[in-house]
Amino acid sequence: MSYSYQIKTQEAYELAYRESVQYPEVFWERIASTFTWQKKWDKVLDWNFDQPSVKWFEGGKLNITENCLDRHLQKYGNIPAIIWEPNHPSESHRVLTYNELHVKVTQFANVLKNNGVQKGDRVCIYMGMIPELTIAMLACARIGAIHSIIFGGFSAQAIADRLEDAKAEFIITCDGAYRGAKEVPLKAVVDEALVGNTIIKRVIVYNRLNMPVSMVADRDVYWEEEVRKVEMQGNPDCPAEVMDAEDMLFVLYTSGSTGKPKGVVHTIGGYMVWANYTFVNVFQYQPGQIHFCTADIGWITGHSYIVYGPLSAGATTLMFEGIPTWPDAGRFWDIVDKFKVDILYTAPTAIRSLMGFGLEYVKDKDLSSLKVLGSVGEPINEEAWHWFYNNIGKEKCPVVDTWWQTETGGVLISNLAGVTPGKPSFATLPLPGVQPCLVDEHGKEILDNHVSGNLCIRFPWPGMIRTTYNNHERCRQAYFSTYENLYFTGDGCVRDEYGNYRITGRVDDVLNVSGHRIGTAEVENAINSHTGVIESAVVGYPHEIKGQGIYAYVIYNGTPEDIELSKQAIHQTVSRMIGPIAKPDKIQFVPGLPKTRSGKIMRRILRKIAEGETSNFGDTSTLLDPTLVDSIRAGKI
Ligand code: WTA
Repeated sequence: MSYSYQIKTQEAYELAYRESVQYPEVFWERIASTFTWQKKWDKVLDWNFDQPSVKWFEGGKLNITENCLDRHLQKYGNIPAIIWEPNHPSESHRVLTYNELHVKVTQFANVLKNNGVQKGDRVCIYMGMIPELTIAMLACARIGAIHSIIFGGFSAQAIADRLEDAKAEFIITCDGAYRGAKEVPLKAVVDEALVGNTIIKRVIVYNRLNMPVSMVADRDVYWEEEVRKVEMQGNPDCPAEVMDAEDMLFVLYTSGSTGKPKGVVHTIGGYMVWANYTFVNVFQYQPGQIHFCTADIGWITGHSYIVYGPLSAGATTLMFEGIPTWPDAGRFWDIVDKFKVDILYTAPTAIRSLMGFGLEYVKDKDLSSLKVLGSVGEPINEEAWHWFYNNIGKEKCPVVDTWWQTETGGVLISNLAGVTPGKPSFATLPLPGVQPCLVDEHGKEILDNHVSGNLCIRFPWPGMIRTTYNNHERCRQAYFSTYENLYFTGDGCVRDEYGNYRITGRVDDVLNVSGHRIGTAEVENAINSHTGVIESAVVGYPHEIKGQGIYAYVIYNGTPEDIELSKQAIHQTVSRMIGPIAKPDKIQFVPGLPKTRSGKIMRRILRKIAEGETSNFGDTSTLLDPTLVDSIRAGKI
């Protein structure tokens, strides 16, 4: 593959940026033309942010798997598409070439068809990080089914909520997953999620651990047996379904400021172009290189930069099943050394955690193959940035600090590796096609540099969210109603004197815990469902490794007799309702919550207390009971 649209110099970036703003349709048409389409589009872009309605490449027909697989086969069929490293270093790794991946995807696409999956159906995928997860995604895309992947750390209740919202009729899962020293029983969690569910028609189970699972007759089938049936049928091929550019590719649930996660919808044409364009340009991928993104495919980062970005570019993507700290904190560096990884893309929380183990685990590893380092998911503090740059990149690899969101489909603001300059803790400049602006709390645009404000985007880019599944009004409300004619990101941001952007964190009620997005309202709902809890308020506080920790103030019925036991019980409830990732780091039992006379909780005060402030709570005169503040502060943990 060669990428005619890969930006190679700072001047070329500036030129591309200017053109993308002045002539967006000409700009994107040229890039989209390099992909495989079954029919060319009638119109490049049609949009308004009122409804909102955003359509890219309308009338175009394509299948994303032809772009991720078929088009590479003739010349690059034998190069590795996926290198898979298992959880345990003693187990053999696997390599799937583009030819092999193509065969497996078409086979499994036929399995889906045999099991009644049709174009437009929603298929929920709840699997560990194994190549079959990627195969399952691409097989859905092959036949035009919409995948909805649920991160393996979510609980049965969380799965049930998502299944209901997506009206999914099919699930693909594993018996279990390895995560470090743990074995997670995925099928058992699915079974629990399906109690009372009458919509699900089929559960396809891949055997990863060979752990005993219960199989419900007429509903549950084994992946391997179904593949064997397809092999016996003799025709492994599965023609790619003809899809509209604006047909849905996937739904991915993410947290917002309400108690219910929303299904972010991405459509095929625009998402494909965006994932590919950003992959090729941000990481400056060169053919033959190995790209290692450490995210889980259950999050958007895995969708875009393990699967669709790299595979559409004919790249070699490395998938890792395990965790960075097991069997020891040198696991990432072993993998880099073993496969001679070129690009390493990870999260600040992982960097901070590995930093804490010291250089002992880095020192004997050959990291000289590395050319580009990347960071995603949360603001990267300068200390972590320098540690990464100095000790992993040995001061010779550019670090790309990539800012983006589930809703944006791919990176919006980042330096381009080795092409535009980085700046520690700054995502720096927008990619071509991205028009950021900062607004003050009244929605007035702030035009100067050296300012801070709320980050918005004023013009559509191909990879942007199209709707929230089954509830378009929610999409409008959440992103397009705060400021007129702007997409509101929910992030606060600083722009320096040169126009570089630094994202400072969420300004809404969304927390970012170890790079996982968690809504405070979701956690509060879970806590409130625990017996004896009268009310709760959840806020974030700075956490050395996780970035943000979860602090819960809880009004409990009576005085808890055994405080520790009560806290553990609340933890269990939260794990059951959402998943262990949402467990509060701190729980403080309080006699009341600081409320205004109209009954609104003053979270600003609770946040300050959680951050350790002892004074400067601002104006507390509107509080119903100002003395509460002192008593809550006195009980701070
Ligand atoms: C935050 C992850 C600072 C931000 C791709 C955003 C970042 C939220 C960065 C989206 C970054 C992501 N610097 N903050 N480089 N990248 N964020 O949907 O608050 O899981 O709104 O997407 O993560 O999280 P999400």
